[in-house]
Parts: sequence; C-alpha cells; structure tokens
Amino acid sequence: MKASTYRKYGPPEVLQLKEVEKPTPKDDEVLIRIYATTVNRTDCGFRKPEYLVVRLVSGLFRPKKNILGNEMSGEIEAVGKNVKTFKPGDQVFGLNTFKFGTHAEYVCISEKGSITIKPANMSFNEAAAVCDGLMLAMTYIRIIDFKNVQKILINGASGSIGSACVQLAKYYGAKITAVCDTKNIELVKSLGAEKVIDYSKDDFTKDNQIYDVIIDAVGKSSFFRCKNLIKPGGTYFSTELGFLSQNIFLALLTPLFRRKKVLFPIPKDSKEDIVFFKKLIEEGQYKAVIDRSYPLEQIIEATRYVESGRKTGNVVIIV
Ligand SMILES: NC(=O)c1ccc[n+]([C@@H]2O[C@H](COP(=O)([O-])OP(=O)(O)OC[C@H]3O[C@@H](n4cnc5c(N)ncnc54)[C@H](OP(=O)(O)O)[C@@H]3O)[C@@H](O)[C@H]2O)c1
Repeated sequence: MKASTYRKYGPPEVLQLKEVEKPTPKDDEVLIRIYATTVNRTDCGFRKPEYLVVRLVSGLFRPKKNILGNEMSGEIEAVGKNVKTFKPGDQVFGLNTFKFGTHAEYVCISEKGSITIKPANMSFNEAAAVCDGLMLAMTYIRIIDFKNVQKILINGASGSIGSACVQLAKYYGAKITAVCDTKNIELVKSLGAEKVIDYSKDDFTKDNQIYDVIIDAVGKSSFFRCKNLIKPGGTYFSTELGFLSQNIFLALLTPLFRRKKVLFPIPKDSKEDIVFFKKLIEEGQYKAVIDRSYPLEQIIEATRYVESGRKTGNVVIIV
C-alpha cells in the first residue's frame, strides 16, 4: 500500500511516500481502507519533537512508528475473527491517537478503539477532519461546570482546537467571546461566538471584561497576562506548555490556593467520545471546518502549511 513514512525526526522533507506492506488485522481488529485523513499539529509535534516528553513516547533518537496521521474516515475492508460490531463495507470515522498510521491507504484499529460509523450527513473529507480537534477541545470542556460558568473566552478560535471549543461551549450554553483574525470573524460567529475580538487590531488581555474561563487554544497568551480577566475561582487553560513549561507548574500550584487556577489536563480519546461527536454532528450541532485539502502525494506541502500556524480549522489529506 501507499503510505507517507518517516525514519528520522526533522522538517517536513523527512516525509517520504513509499510502498509498504499492507497491514493484516489481528483477531480483534478491523482493516480500514482510508479515504481521507488530516495533517494536524499533533503530527507535526511528533515529526519534529520540541519537547523531551514526546521523544520519551515516540523514541529518543528516531521515531519507533514510521507512519504519522491520527484521524481518518474510510470503509472497513476486512475484520478479525473476534470482531462483532463492524463488518466489511461499514463506513467509519475516528481516531488512532498516539498509535498513528493513518497517512496511508490502510490502517488496522481495534474494534474497541476510538472509531464508529461515520455520520450520515458528512462527507468522508469532513468526517476525517473533526475528531482530533474535538477530542482535544473536549479535554478542557469536560472539566468546566457549565451550570456555574456563563462567560468564556476562547483565544485562537479559528484553529482546529479553537473552532471545536467554540462549538462545544455553545452546545453547553456558554456565552462565548472568541479571539481571531479579521478574515475569520464571520466564521467564528457562525460557530457560536457572541462577541469577537480581532487580534490583529486589539489585545484581548487589555480588555476590561471578566470571564469565568479562558481557553487559550493557540497557546499565545499566559496565565499572568490573563489573570486580571479571570473571575475569582475561575480557570485558565492553554494548549501549550508555555514559557519554561510554566503551565505544568501553575497547574500543580494554583489549585492549592482556591482562587484563579491553571489546569493542564492530558488529552485522551475514547470510543464514547467519538460516539458523542457523531451524535452532535447528526443533530446539526457540530460542523467540520476545513481550510484546504491535498492529495497524499502532496503531504509535504500540506505539512508546511499546517506548520505555518495560520490554518483555519483543519487540513485534509485525500488518500
Ligand atoms: N495540548 C495538546 O495535546 C496539543 C495537541 C495538538 C496541538 N496543540 C497545540 O494547540 C495549538 C493549536 O493548534 P490548532 O491545530 O488548533 O491550530 P493552529 O494550526 O495552531 O491554528 C491556529 C489558529 O489560530 C490563529 N492564530 C494565530 N496566532 C494567533 C494569535 N496570536 N491570537 C489568536 N489567534 C491566532 C490562526 O489564525 P490566523 O491565521 O488568522 O492568524 C489559526 O487559525 C498549537 O499551538 C498546537 O501546538 C496542543
């Protein structure tokens, strides 16, 4: 099968399109013919690790797994002998977080993994582009007590994680202020933001509004710059570790003082979440945000674009 492979860490050019052996499903696995996948920031973070913790998981000097890609949509081609819940021909979507392997024509995933039947109202390209952003957004959103939280600010609302945070917070009934660039104002309003701050004109940290929760979905601010905007008892989340990994230390210390706290939850995917995402999509409560799509053959160009940090939503790879 065709796959985008990498044998060493480095720039997008370490990716090589190759013929590799087609995987065979184990007894509890399904073999999926992938129709669409994405290049996301998780792929970039594992291809060129900035943090030691990534190398501890992925391989200290070179990657142990040689195909990136953690979300996909496609069709089941074969099932292992113990598989009960899927059959050949089922159209599926989901995640293979940290196991990767979706930048290829085929992947094997456990029947119990984070996959389910594709929402009927989405194309394969759209279905491939929802799960990673939603799963990462859910990491923060599931901690928020929306009965007591009304006002929430989401910085980087036009990214993959940010656009998912806006849609989920809207679903749970929050009043959302979103921060994005001029070109994305109408998009983030359509996703559910009540108020938008254009970061190319105004600095949201200088605003005089007070929020129950701030989610920095693009990791460009800091708790110290946002502290005055957070209510006593309120929470600051960031998708990045921050200068000198400060968000880890702040997440250990600030909850002890019961005032304004930083939380830094670790993302984790599950089948239950994917089933919930399918329900949201089918009820019309969630839509895919796609910036561009590229064929698998142009994965280096796609990766360069993702790494620019300027994508709106998601970048799809058509396999
Ligand atoms: N915690 C985790 O496990 C995890 C996993 C994956 C990714 N991440 C991190 O999460 C962050 C977001 O990733 P993503 O894929 O959602 O998005 P992304 O590719 O980083 O896109 C960011 C979006 O934010 C906008 N943006 C750029 N600078 C901004 C600023 N100063 N203020 C407000 N918006 C700004 C960009 O819009 P314009 O082009 O219009 O400026 C773009 O639409 C990245 O830093 C990534 O490294 C964390």
